[in-house]
Amino acid sequence: MQVPYLPSSKTQTQNVMNLLHGRRGRLVDLGSGDGRLVFAASAAGLRCTGYEINSILTTSARVRAWLRGVPPGSATFVSEDFWKTNLSDYNNVTVFLAPGVMDVLGEKLLKELPDEARVVACRFPFPHWPFSASEGQGLDQAWAYDMGAVRGHLLQTLYTTAKGI
Ligand SMILES: C[S@@+](CC[C@H](N)C(=O)[O-])C[C@H]1O[C@@H](n2cnc3c(N)ncnc32)[C@H](O)[C@@H]1O
Repeated sequence: MQVPYLPSSKTQTQNVMNLLHGRRGRLVDLGSGDGRLVFAASAAGLRCTGYEINSILTTSARVRAWLRGVPPGSATFVSEDFWKTNLSDYNNVTVFLAPGVMDVLGEKLLKELPDEARVVACRFPFPHWPFSASEGQGLDQAWAYDMGAVRGHLLQTLYTTAKGI
């Protein structure tokens, strides 16, 4: 499924950053566009990578990183399809994609991310995951999911269904 480019608004970016407050380590933005979420997260001290399939947007993000003087290693832009990338090295993930991909993306993240990872979804929540926190409303709303809690909830649901409770 094609996901069009639509940049995060300032409010949406702030909502994402509120949900990442206090987080450390590595972050990946899946479909990083012009890099705005990556720049906000790297300014907060996270080591960030943006995957972007549109090479014009990747080039634009790299130029913007250079113009801003972003230190090498704190914001990296990769011109690749994130579906083909293993995400197990990341403990923070941001996504602003489309409703039709959230279910299948959830399966990939469940397979690859560590329990301590936090996923922040913009505008389109994961349909069957319990969220730990949410910020904003309407088109700018964002949801945070903690992978350990998501796995616990899904296992409990499976158990309850299997027992017919
Ligand atoms: C809605 S935009 C969000 C851009 C940016 N994250 C932001 O918040 O401003 C989604 C981006 O995902 C990119 N994208 C879609 N599918 C992708 C894929 N499989 N691999 C890498 N990038 C992808 C699109 O090209 C588009 O730039």
